[in-house]
Amino acid sequence: MTVGIDRISFFVPPYFIDMTDLAHARDVDPNKFHIGIGQDQMAVNAKTQDIITFATHAAKHILTEEDLETIDTVIVATESGIDESKAASVVLHRLLGIQPFARSFEIKEACYGGTAGLQFAKNHVTLHPKSKVLVVATDIARYGLNSAGEPTQGAGAVAMLITANPRVLSLNDDNVMLTQDIYDFWRPVGHDYPLVDGPLSNETYINAFQKVWQENTRRNGYTLADYQALAFHIPYTKMGKKALLAILENETEDEQARILARYEESIAYSRRIGNLYTGSLYLGLISLLEHATSLKAGDRIGLFSYGSGAVSEFFSGHLVEGYEPYLLADVHTALLEQRVKLSIEAYEELFNDKLDTTIDGTFDDDTLFSISEIQHTIRSYRTK
Ligand code: HMG
Repeated sequence: MTVGIDRISFFVPPYFIDMTDLAHARDVDPNKFHIGIGQDQMAVNAKTQDIITFATHAAKHILTEEDLETIDTVIVATESGIDESKAASVVLHRLLGIQPFARSFEIKEACYGGTAGLQFAKNHVTLHPKSKVLVVATDIARYGLNSAGEPTQGAGAVAMLITANPRVLSLNDDNVMLTQDIYDFWRPVGHDYPLVDGPLSNETYINAFQKVWQENTRRNGYTLADYQALAFHIPYTKMGKKALLAILENETEDEQARILARYEESIAYSRRIGNLYTGSLYLGLISLLEHATSLKAGDRIGLFSYGSGAVSEFFSGHLVEGYEPYLLADVHTALLEQRVKLSIEAYEELFNDKLDTTIDGTFDDDTLFSISEIQHTIRSYRTK
């Protein structure tokens, strides 16, 4: 029996800004954002669209009625939680209509949370092969207007259904984990935005990748030739490339070109969305699978997960025979094409228009699963 990703999809909010517009507004050379950071567009949300809105849409893309009757665990990974106690997955469980005898919880370790959820799900299904687990990584990445991190913001969710004998990617038992107590990016309770040491975060990300890669080589005996592609956590698209280049020095030109070509395919969606925090690695995986024409069943894909603070994990999966029809490239392309481009003034207005859950009220955002009402701090979501 194999265990892994049976279905996978992402959702992003209906607005975006163009990075050239942001560069002009911030008096920066646009090439810094497009080339230096590697971002072309950035997803933006209204205050009535939150992590539950994104998670519900992303999960709706992949779940059948039979899945709703079978899922027994719902995991939400996020660092944009809306409650210090109650898990977002409990609300998600109701909005999706999942059968009641299920476990629902939320987990956190910066951008690593999605991988923690995936690995929990894999272990659960290995023990209980009839179970299905829904893992949703959902976040709003914000650093503040005019901040150094502003061009690396984003918003959205990735949903994954983890089952026995999955139809997309079977997960291998070759994980290398790494924990280091480092303050490169953190958000103390009560802070709207994270505190970031940008250069330290870049350095820690690259060092962590080198460490888990070397340990993977030592422990599992794999070399680059064993991987048809590597997918990375993508806080901005230049970041993964910097880490990748750090292990390519001694490879042949052909090997470098091969793995860098797959990297470009893995960042196509992120260039248009930005950082999804917990979902970024999995957005990269979707992008790779939906853009690469040279991948085939049986290929091994390596995945590098990084969460500031810092926890990293490198692991791999094999593409399953006949995986192609289970991807949702058309849905994802349409989602990106249908978004509305905002001016920088409109983006700044949305950014400053914060949801105040201490004031009761109703909202006129008529998009599905948007927040329709706040009563006694409780959010209601539009289900029709
Ligand atoms: P910055 O200070 O604005 O940018 O911060 P910079 O001056 O370092 O420039 C960035 C790059 O643009 C440089 O390239 C410049 O040379 C280049 P590099 O040397 O790095 O290759 N550049 C240009 N290129 C072409 N034409 C030009 C031009 N001008 C400059 N005209 C920083 C950048 C990423 C630090 C900032 O945006 C930031 O703090 N972002 C947030 C932190 C972050 O994303 N860190 C990544 C690693 S940590 C991580 O991944 C975890 C995270 O997802 C959180 C979590 O785990 O929850 C963030």
